[in-house]
Amino acid sequence: MFGCVRVRLGTVTTNRTATKRSVLMCRPEFFTVSYRINPWMHPEEPTDTSLAVRQWETLYQTYLDLGFDVQLIEPIDGLPDMVYAANGGFVIDNIAYGADFTYPERQPEGPAYMDWFREAGFDVRVPENINEGEGDFLLVGGVILAGTGFRSASNSHEELATIYGREVVTLELVNPSFYHLDTAIAILDDENIAYLPSAFNETGLAILRERFPDAVIVNEEDASVLGLNSFSDGYNVVIASRAKDFERQLKERGYNPIGVDLSELLLGGGGVKCCTLELRR
Ligand code: ARG
Repeated sequence: MFGCVRVRLGTVTTNRTATKRSVLMCRPEFFTVSYRINPWMHPEEPTDTSLAVRQWETLYQTYLDLGFDVQLIEPIDGLPDMVYAANGGFVIDNIAYGADFTYPERQPEGPAYMDWFREAGFDVRVPENINEGEGDFLLVGGVILAGTGFRSASNSHEELATIYGREVVTLELVNPSFYHLDTAIAILDDENIAYLPSAFNETGLAILRERFPDAVIVNEEDASVLGLNSFSDGYNVVIASRAKDFERQLKERGYNPIGVDLSELLLGGGGVKCCTLELRR
């Protein structure tokens, strides 16, 4: 599963290199769908918490097998969405920018994650603006891609730029099914991304086309199983097992896609990436 491979793309030879990641996860012990804050959620339909835990364990084990350092935050009863750790904050340069959730149902998660970051030794910044962490903020190379439209407010993008002193590129999301940036874009490595064009407005699309002319374009079918909601170490890309065309495209480009089935967590509107918060010291 580990590795580094050389692939020929046209006339260019590229190296795909895996780097061990450090991530934070939350076991879905209290997972259920009891409210509706995105179109995927149907509180009237049943959920199976033990199945959610088993599927989550597979993802957890996949990361351990890849040699990742996996940290765990204690789940809290009454916070069923806490499993989606990506929303708990944004962590780079040892600085953890806390989350301030859009909907009251998830608001208590913000302080819970900030307490964890503090205890783990991160420099915690209490947010001044509504934002849902790595759900909407993705680091690619040195640049932060930042989503807005459904959850994170655009003034949180300015806050990010001030805190990290990095370029922040605002991208507006337009499809309520792809309400977080990490449901519409996957970061494959420091230079490469994959995305769903129809999730963005014209301005955002023009930016993506200009900055990432060689991006992997994911189709609606794969996006509709949250295929883009994936986590890459630069070579191994953990994706939804049902995202078959995305899997094929990744192989073609020299990546190693690893499919995981998180169907139960999809009922809450989340996938692989949603369950994963990267910790960058
Ligand atoms: N039910 C959660 C919500 O609507 C799902 C969060 C998914 N997380 C993500 N990073 N996209 O907030």
